[in-house]
Amino acid sequence: MQNSKSALRSGRARIQPPFDERMREKTEALRSQEKVRILSLETSCDETAAAIIENGRIIRANIVFSQIDLHALYGGVVPEIASRAHVEACDRVIDEALREADMSFDNIDALAVTCGPGLVGALLTGVSCMKGLSYALDKPLIPVNHIEGHISANFLTHPELEPPFLCLVVSGGHSHLVNVPDYGVYELIGQTMDDAAGEAFDKAARVLSLPYPGGPKLDQLAEEGNPEYLKLPHPHVEGYDYSFSGMKTAFLNSCHTMEMKGEELPKADLAASFRKAVVDSLVGKAKLAAKDTGAKKMAMAGGVSANRLLRREMQAACDSLGIPLYMPEIKLCTDNGAMIGSAAYYRLLRGETAALTLNAMPSLRLV
Ligand code: KG4
Ligand code: ZN
Repeated sequence: MQNSKSALRSGRARIQPPFDERMREKTEALRSQEKVRILSLETSCDETAAAIIENGRIIRANIVFSQIDLHALYGGVVPEIASRAHVEACDRVIDEALREADMSFDNIDALAVTCGPGLVGALLTGVSCMKGLSYALDKPLIPVNHIEGHISANFLTHPELEPPFLCLVVSGGHSHLVNVPDYGVYELIGQTMDDAAGEAFDKAARVLSLPYPGGPKLDQLAEEGNPEYLKLPHPHVEGYDYSFSGMKTAFLNSCHTMEMKGEELPKADLAASFRKAVVDSLVGKAKLAAKDTGAKKMAMAGGVSANRLLRREMQAACDSLGIPLYMPEIKLCTDNGAMIGSAAYYRLLRGETAALTLNAMPSLRLV
């Protein structure tokens, strides 16, 4: 009697490998694929942002939903409100990114998400969203450090840029001088001892009654002011480290004294004086580090790298050293998904994908 059809089959049992193992296999295959498209999501603070990036360098879509209006009422980011707004906006920014690129999920090879540092609730919304998408679409997920993302924004604006370079990372939470000898390799050579540059700008802006977020508004106002109006103390910090709390306190005290005397604050002059003090310090140490380390290229990254004076002064410093300066275009300086997609591509090339156990890491360090 003839065997039934199923009884004649032979070979290995057809059980799919566990998810994480299958993702590693897929990632391995993607490493040699000519064109890799990554859908990335950024939710570490108050921007819900999605992007589609090709080979780490080409922006196919870049959608940023800013929550500024939601937080402006409170004068700063309210973590709980940020998390809720991310939950509502994640799907929308991803859909919009696909629409802008004229793509569907079928055209996406891998997913990426910021896993830290940042607000824990905000990070968790993005990480959960992308883990779910990774499982549902059966596509690898790449975890990205937010600061690494900021540095990688330079690869999008300058397709010719390759490591090694020295990078000044200045954002709301970080002020770092980082040596980047290769993709994904970072050597921290200097950092702030207290406030981050962006944080100092925001606090100074608040004293001048500028609406949140104050940094960009203080920068704009400073363009019309006299930077010599108020002399602020210069921090004496060893090596390539920074300190902004002394100049911030001196600035706040001067403003409060004027207010107590009933004087009207010359806001533009005060903004210009504070901006000059911060920028002089940032540029001074960056220039010193470039000279001492013999850096051949300098880059800048993070929200504060949008600062007009900082861009001008860093350019002048690099010109005097005879080295090129790379800066992200303004819209890629502040938080966005494109920078996460760029960083993710180089992680993918190194085979670094996330397991489904990936969690938010609010205090994640760059190195
Ligand atoms: O990188 P980012 O968008 O978020 C963080 O990762 O922190 O940086 C936001 C910070 C805020 O403190 C904001 O006030 C500051 O960057 N910022 C500026 C300017 N644009 C943004 N600070 C000074 N001048 C600007 N033009
Ligand atoms: Zn940022």
